[in-house]
Amino acid sequence: MEESSLKGRDLLSIADLSAAELSAVLATAAKLKSETQQKIPHPILAGQTLALVFEKPSLRTRLSFDVGMFQLGGRAFYLAPQEVGLGKRETISDVARVISRMCSVIVARVFTHESLVELAKYSEVPVVNGLSDFEHPCQALADLLTIQERFGQLAGLKMAYIGDGNNMAHSLMLGAALSGMSISVISPPGFEPNEEVVSQARRLAGDKVTIKAVHNLEAGLAGADIIYTDVWASMGQEEETESRRQVFRPYQVNSRVVGLAKPDALVLHCLPAHRGDEITEEVLEGPQSAVFQQAENRLHAQKGLLVHLLG
Ligand code: CP
Ligand code: NVA
Repeated sequence: MEESSLKGRDLLSIADLSAAELSAVLATAAKLKSETQQKIPHPILAGQTLALVFEKPSLRTRLSFDVGMFQLGGRAFYLAPQEVGLGKRETISDVARVISRMCSVIVARVFTHESLVELAKYSEVPVVNGLSDFEHPCQALADLLTIQERFGQLAGLKMAYIGDGNNMAHSLMLGAALSGMSISVISPPGFEPNEEVVSQARRLAGDKVTIKAVHNLEAGLAGADIIYTDVWASMGQEEETESRRQVFRPYQVNSRVVGLAKPDALVLHCLPAHRGDEITEEVLEGPQSAVFQQAENRLHAQKGLLVHLLG
């Protein structure tokens, strides 16, 4: 591969990628996935090291970066919240400069997006957003790979995201806009996506792409090829779980709601899922759901990204 325009860059938002860079990462991811399935080794990042700096729990993000670096010939090191104490035991700027002296890339999962911005400001190596309160770009990359595998392309499709206008909604809106995919974010009043993100997505989207934030399920789901949902209370909002349950109840992805989209619409969920809340068991485990293919694609999508950032 020629040197990527992404080499040495940060990925704090999915919109840090241009449309062409996003397609290039997905193409590399698809190639690495195929090689992995054929057991063809690809030690492209031999000797490179990745630090996982996490303030919140994780299964998929931690494991996929760890396994991904191993398969690429490098190594990942997990740094638990109590060890690093980001901004508490030590300033973020000191943490960034110390890790930069030992590792090739930092993946951070933080409570406030500003912590990532601060890490990136002081880091001499790329910083990747492994989830913040504002965006989850690595998940969106895996989601786009999953959609591309199913439909053969992204442009011209329509996604309906149902639920909280949260980090996932933001990255999906921006990722859809960059990919030529229309998206409706359907949320209860008071839980809409950030208005600046909606405007940014509209600016990135071409003429034929519509970016909507609506409250009405029927309007948002009409003609949807993909139905996406996420938890009603994100990490850090646990004390709001009960109050949110009341507000979000009409927005549960159940078989009636799935029936409002195109027949055979793809059902996605970033996981972890709360069966009986944002999605029913029947839909999550049903024939339209691709949630485990989507989870697996975290591995392949992020390997594609790492090769572009470090290769
Ligand atoms: N979807 C996702 O990011 O999962 P984890 O929180 O388990 O990493
Ligand atoms: N919105 C969720 C996504 C989890 C992967 C959260 O931030 O907890």
